[in-house]
Amino acid sequence: MIVDCDPGHDDALALLLAAGDYRLRLLGVTTVAGNQTLDKTTKNALKILALAGAAGVPVAAGCARPLVGDLTVAEDIHGASGLDGPDLDLPVGGVADVHAVELMRRLITGSPEPVTLIATGPLTNVALLLRSHPEVTPQVRRIVFMGGSTGRGNTTPYGEFNIVTDPEAADIVLRSGLPTTMIGLNVTHQALATTEIIAEFRGLGTRLGEICAELMTFFASTYHRVFGFEHPPVHDPIAVAQVIDPAIVRTVTAPVAVELTGTYTRGATVVDLHHRTGRTPNADIAVGLDVGAFWRLLMAAVRQAGEQ
Ligand code: BDR
Ligand code: CA
Repeated sequence: MIVDCDPGHDDALALLLAAGDYRLRLLGVTTVAGNQTLDKTTKNALKILALAGAAGVPVAAGCARPLVGDLTVAEDIHGASGLDGPDLDLPVGGVADVHAVELMRRLITGSPEPVTLIATGPLTNVALLLRSHPEVTPQVRRIVFMGGSTGRGNTTPYGEFNIVTDPEAADIVLRSGLPTTMIGLNVTHQALATTEIIAEFRGLGTRLGEICAELMTFFASTYHRVFGFEHPPVHDPIAVAQVIDPAIVRTVTAPVAVELTGTYTRGATVVDLHHRTGRTPNADIAVGLDVGAFWRLLMAAVRQAGEQ
């Protein structure tokens, strides 16, 4: 599979899970502007892969702004670097000399098996891939994205950050006809990096475990300041966990549309859980999470990646 991301504290955990779990083959990582500007999210992806002993995984930078409108980064949550907290001044690998969309195209067409795309940032790169290279779609097994919500949002009252950042891209993905899984806030808000979880990261006794503890400590402070949360929700690795073990995330099939024109609701994901609209279901929607199994999976991957 390929991870398209905008690291980001929780994207970092998603990358560690993708690199550290023995069942997955991480073909490449592509970056997008979102939590921070593209240069920063790309640098952060390279750092996390280096820490996970996965510096050989190709990384390509993609879109620096949404398809429509301007970029608004989430500096209040992820800090000036996009990964504030630990000291991450380390040597990193180079970035591919092709655009993220081109790297995705090459990896997908070169793969003997269909490829799963996991997106943990705004869907700009993925939408551009589907629009500019429709010929790859038979080779795309599924798109699993963290974004949206069956209820309220976190960036506007009904809009979640990844979708609000690029609603048109999300709309293209959800109307693509490809099998799609939406991992929204209604589920990710159950995966909290509690004090015990942070202690468990530290208890791994590796540099990577310590870095995860420091990342989550910073994330906890901003989530507390901005949202009043006691513990921060780690959204993005749930999308990876769902691919590793679908039993961890309960899903239902339903129609979902992205609000593109609402006066107050642009970027909201309108999910018809009760099939009242007569619209055709177009996504599997996450509605439940096995929280214990999720953390066991993530901890095992961070342990494994830290011992590289
Ligand atoms: C999403 O927005 C970002 O801040 C996180 O990395 C996650 O992908 C949560 O709304
Ligand atoms: Ca993200």
